[in-house]
Amino acid sequence: MIVIKDLCKSYKKDGTEEIKAVDNVNLEIRQGEFTAIVGPSGSGKSTLMNIIGLLDIPDSGSYSIDGKIVSDLSVDELAEIRNKKIGFVFQQFHLLPKTTAKENVEIPLIYSDKKDISGLAADALTRVGLSDRINHIPSELSGGQQQRVAIARALVNNPEIILADEPTGNLDSKSGAEIIEVFKNLNRQGKTIILITHDQKIAEHADRILKIVDGKITEEIFADHSTNNTGQTQLLNSQNSEEGQLVRSQQVSTKFKNSFWRK
Ligand SMILES: Nc1ncnc2c1ncn2[C@@H]1O[C@H](COP(=O)(O)OP(=O)(O)OP(=O)(O)O)[C@@H](O)[C@H]1O
Ligand SMILES: [Mg+2]
Repeated sequence: MIVIKDLCKSYKKDGTEEIKAVDNVNLEIRQGEFTAIVGPSGSGKSTLMNIIGLLDIPDSGSYSIDGKIVSDLSVDELAEIRNKKIGFVFQQFHLLPKTTAKENVEIPLIYSDKKDISGLAADALTRVGLSDRINHIPSELSGGQQQRVAIARALVNNPEIILADEPTGNLDSKSGAEIIEVFKNLNRQGKTIILITHDQKIAEHADRILKIVDGKITEEIFADHSTNNTGQTQLLNSQNSEEGQLVRSQQVSTKFKNSFWRK
């Protein structure tokens, strides 16, 4: 469970003008939720995700993960939580080019005390449907397959949370659709997924979509995939937040919220 209260992070531009990359964000993410984060370029999505992933430190506000208040933790404790609980997937796959899929997936295990590193890497590759490609190097794999190797690498330590920053941004729509299926499967298996995307179709696979504008969460929307008999996801309700205060909204409308995307 992730609980974020009044979170702020600013950057100084040219040493003078201050940019509020994350501006008074309040957010709860429950275990097993699949959340998409959308918003314009520069709105603070990656900054927020980096804070959630313990890669960056906020200026103010509080963040707790499974009841542990992050600001109370030492650098070593942060690294341990990051390694054990969180897997990262990025737009650029960041695979070592001359190294096989299996060896790439083994990398996070090198400094762990786990036995059978090779078996764990092969298992992770099987979970993303790449059991027949484990000895291929990245240049022998399609973009979608390379991203699946990166997802297997994020999975190999069996994290509870997967953070994905534009994971389909470098892929064609077919490969992107395959990748989103991988995330949906992982979510069904209980993983908490937080995914940043510019792509409305990708976002609508999530259970919940948060829109960020100028560092603030401005809207929240829930998708109901269960009552979907037209092949189209129904987006239930959306809610404007006031002053960054986001309250979990009730499902009040089954109307498709086109306005959410147009704004
Ligand atoms: N290390 C940094 N130093 C200075 N400014 C930064 C830094 N990182 C981010 N910013 C600024 O903070 C704001 C938010 O950036 P961020 O990368 O979080 O946006 P984003 O929503 O992820 O954008 P995109 O969709 O283009 O990836 C931007 O104005 C950006 O220029
Ligand atoms: Mg970004």
